[in-house]
Amino acid sequence: MRAAVIPASDAPPVCREHPDPAPRHGDELVVEVLAAGLHHLTRAKANGSHYSSDGVYPLVPGVDGVVRDEEGNLRYVVLDDTPLGTFAERTLIDPRRSVILPDGIDPVRIAAAMNPAMSSWVALRRRVDFHAGRRVLVLGATGNAGRMAIQIAKLFGAAQVIAAGRDTTRLRTLTALGADETITFDQIGRAADVDVVIDYVWGEPAAGAMIPMLTARADRAAPLTWIQIGSIAGPTAPIPSAALRSARLQIVGSGIGSVPARDFLAELPELASAVAAGAIDVRARAVPLARVAEAWTAETDDRVVLVP
Ligand SMILES: NC(=O)c1ccc[n+]([C@@H]2O[C@H](COP(=O)([O-])OP(=O)(O)OC[C@H]3O[C@@H](n4cnc5c(N)ncnc54)[C@H](OP(=O)(O)O)[C@@H]3O)[C@@H](O)[C@H]2O)c1
Repeated sequence: MRAAVIPASDAPPVCREHPDPAPRHGDELVVEVLAAGLHHLTRAKANGSHYSSDGVYPLVPGVDGVVRDEEGNLRYVVLDDTPLGTFAERTLIDPRRSVILPDGIDPVRIAAAMNPAMSSWVALRRRVDFHAGRRVLVLGATGNAGRMAIQIAKLFGAAQVIAAGRDTTRLRTLTALGADETITFDQIGRAADVDVVIDYVWGEPAAGAMIPMLTARADRAAPLTWIQIGSIAGPTAPIPSAALRSARLQIVGSGIGSVPARDFLAELPELASAVAAGAIDVRARAVPLARVAEAWTAETDDRVVLVP
C-alpha cells in the first residue's frame, strides 16, 4: 500500500510503498483510510516534541481519521501511540477507540474538525464545572480550535463569549461564529469578569494577560478557571506569583493524560453528531496523500486533510 513515511525525527514525510498492516491480536481491525487531518498533534508526535511521543522511527504519522471497516461502516478513530498512523491507504484500529458515523457524512469535514473541536468540548465537559450562563474568554481564538471553542461554548449555553487574538482582521470574522466581543491581547482587561478561560496560546501572551485581567475583576473572590489547552505562543509561561494570590484563580490543563482516554472517547459520539449536523463551522482542505511532503509545511488557515 501507499503511506507517508517519516524516516527520522527531523525528516519530512515521503509518500512511498509500505507493507500492508496485519492485526497483532483479535482486538485490531484493518481498515481503509478515507481522510486524516494534519493537526499540531500529528506534527508534534511525528517529530518527537509531544509529551506522548515514543520516539520510534520510521513511522507513519496520523493520529486520527475517518476510516471504513470491512463491514462497510464509516468510523472516526483516535489511534493510540503507534508507528502506523492514518497517513496511509490502510491502517490498524482498535474499534473501542472509534465511533461509527452516519452514512452520507463528509469524511474530510469530520477529519478536519474532530481534533480541534475536541479540545474545547472535552475541556468544558471534563475539566470544569460548566453551566449554561457562564462567561468564557477564548485566548487565541482565530485558529481552528479557537474558532470552534467559541461555537462550542455557545452550544453549551455560555452567556458571553469573548474572543481574544492578535490578528484584528481575523478577529473581526469571529462575531459571525457567535463571539459577543472580540479583543486584542492589550485589551484583555475587558474580559476581566469571565468564569472560564480557554487558553490556546500560553507563553508570554497568557502570562501577560493574567494580572490585568485578575486585578480588574469586579469580584476577585469569584472563581476563575483557566484551562491550558494549547501552547502556540510558547511551552512555558512566566506566571506572576501575584496572579495566584490576587484573585481566586485556578489553572488546570486539558489534554491526553489529564483527561483519561476513556473520557475523551466517551465524548466522541455526541461531538461527531454535532459536526455531522453542521452545528460547527469547519475549514477543511483536502490534499492527496501523494502530496504529503508539500502539505506538511504548507501555511494555510484551513485544516489540511490527507486523502489517500
Ligand atoms: N489539548 C488538546 O486537547 C488540544 C487539541 C487540539 C489542539 N490543541 C492545541 O491548540 C493550539 C491551537 O490549535 P489549532 O488547531 O487551533 O491551530 P491553528 O489552526 O494552527 O491556529 C493557531 C492560531 O494560533 C495563533 N498564533 C500563532 N502563534 C501565536 C503567537 N505567538 N501568539 C498568539 N497567537 C498565535 C494564530 O492566530 P493569528 O495568526 O490569527 O494570530 C493561529 O491562527 C495548538 O497548540 C494545538 O496543539 C490542543
